Amino acid sequence: MEFSIKTGSPEKQRSDCIVVGVFEGGKLSGSALALDKAAKHYLSDIIARGDMNGKTTTTLLLHHVPNTLGERVLLVGLGKSTEFHAKQFLDAACTAMRAVQKTGAKDATLYLAELPVLSAVQWSGQAASTGSGQAWCLTQAVLAAYETSYRFDRLKSKPEKDNKSLHKIHFGLLDGKQAAALKTVLAQAVATAQGMKLAKDLGNLPGNICTPTYLAAQALALAKSHKSIKTTVLEEKDMRKLGMGSLLSVTRGSEQPAKLITLEYHGADKKQKPIVLVGKGITFDSGGISLKPGAEMDEMKYDMCGAASVLGTLQAIAEMGLKLNVVGVIPACENLPSGRATKPGDIVTSMSGQTIEILNTDAEGRLILCDALTYAGKFKPDTVVDIATLTGACVIALGHVASGLFSNRDDLAKELLAAGEQIYDRAWQLPLWEDYQQLLDSNFADMQNIGGRAGGTITAACFLSRFTKDYRWAHLDIAGTAHKSGKDKGATGRPVPLLTQYLINRANSK
Ligand code: BES
Ligand code: MN
Ligand code: ZN
Repeated sequence: MEFSIKTGSPEKQRSDCIVVGVFEGGKLSGSALALDKAAKHYLSDIIARGDMNGKTTTTLLLHHVPNTLGERVLLVGLGKSTEFHAKQFLDAACTAMRAVQKTGAKDATLYLAELPVLSAVQWSGQAASTGSGQAWCLTQAVLAAYETSYRFDRLKSKPEKDNKSLHKIHFGLLDGKQAAALKTVLAQAVATAQGMKLAKDLGNLPGNICTPTYLAAQALALAKSHKSIKTTVLEEKDMRKLGMGSLLSVTRGSEQPAKLITLEYHGADKKQKPIVLVGKGITFDSGGISLKPGAEMDEMKYDMCGAASVLGTLQAIAEMGLKLNVVGVIPACENLPSGRATKPGDIVTSMSGQTIEILNTDAEGRLILCDALTYAGKFKPDTVVDIATLTGACVIALGHVASGLFSNRDDLAKELLAAGEQIYDRAWQLPLWEDYQQLLDSNFADMQNIGGRAGGTITAACFLSRFTKDYRWAHLDIAGTAHKSGKDKGATGRPVPLLTQYLINRANSK
């Protein structure tokens, strides 16, 4: 898919499909009004006849609209103008994209960027000068275009041939004053969407294909396609030398070798301290000896979505050429039972020297992350953010809308929350209070790996906090947001948008 920005009135666009919005009650958006004027009230007549009521998720496709150069005109319902907030915009953008894809149009010109979205979040940094509204709408429209056209059918023997004629999308602007600045916004949105696509593809791949070795190969491939990325892969013997007894305890039951993958992106002066992203890469989580119940266990192939988001984000920022140094660290292994597997009650020594009593082998994410977080300290980081499908309790707490956020620095938490708001990939902060720490007390080791059912998301974060005392750190629990279940089963590509936006903001603030 190709994207561009076009300035000018909609009736003058030579395009296979011109898309304009109509509010409930028949009120025309600015671009629809311009089109209606040129077409001598052709649109308002149709609306008056009752064929388009402007309600959300409705569309009307028109051919041969008088005095227009476009082949087709698609009217998209926007709902009530007084209720046109971010979510209504996203719904309209997705509805429009789906409707255009159903036509035979090879290209489309969407007049969506100038819609009056209520209380649109302020766009910070470089894009602020472009006017928050247009930059935001443009970004979300690009993400909607990718989202609605995404299919994962490479493992079907006969993929459905859906009509995929659409390959060019233009964003129409009546007012071209900001067009130059919006070009950067457009390029960044496309890079973000492609990063999400990489994260979705890796997440959707089954565990027998997407193994730790496969993830390492993907990281090496990223370094090959992007000169600014350097990838190194540590083997189990290297991890043993580093004293990663906790990480290695998780992989013991598996036949697949564990990998510790590091990607270093250099976009700024070597002396500038890096931001380190650590992603949980459990390519299948059976629970181990503390075996999970069978129902929906297949979804535990998604337990590497933190790792996938690190790869997607690194690809995105390398495409953008952000002036920052960023390191990705991915501990990758399987969690399976076997005669060699770690047992409940086993005690292991982490790279930090702290000992851990493993009371539940299904609380394995924290066991691989704690060693990866200690390892992250080697990069003398400015900030470390880990991303993990860590706890089922987070799904109970926040559902599938917000990711759980924890931090040992409040300003860092605020920056991440703001980035999530800005790109509509939101997180919600939970407490990391000292009072929860005692739930991890063990009779036999420095700590145990579970804290009981109450506050399960918080005690998991508390466990990680014991390994991140030396630096600014935040933890994102994405168990509820990285993938969907049921009929829509599939990876979402989250939180690539949040992470990418955070890094864009950091690069702009330097
Ligand atoms: N990968 C799971 C968490 C998870 C659950 C992610 C559901 C996505 C959907 C994690 O390794 C896990 O099993 N956590 C346990 C922890 C418990 C044993 C303390 C859980 O949440 O049940
Ligand atoms: Mn588990
Ligand atoms: Zn897990």
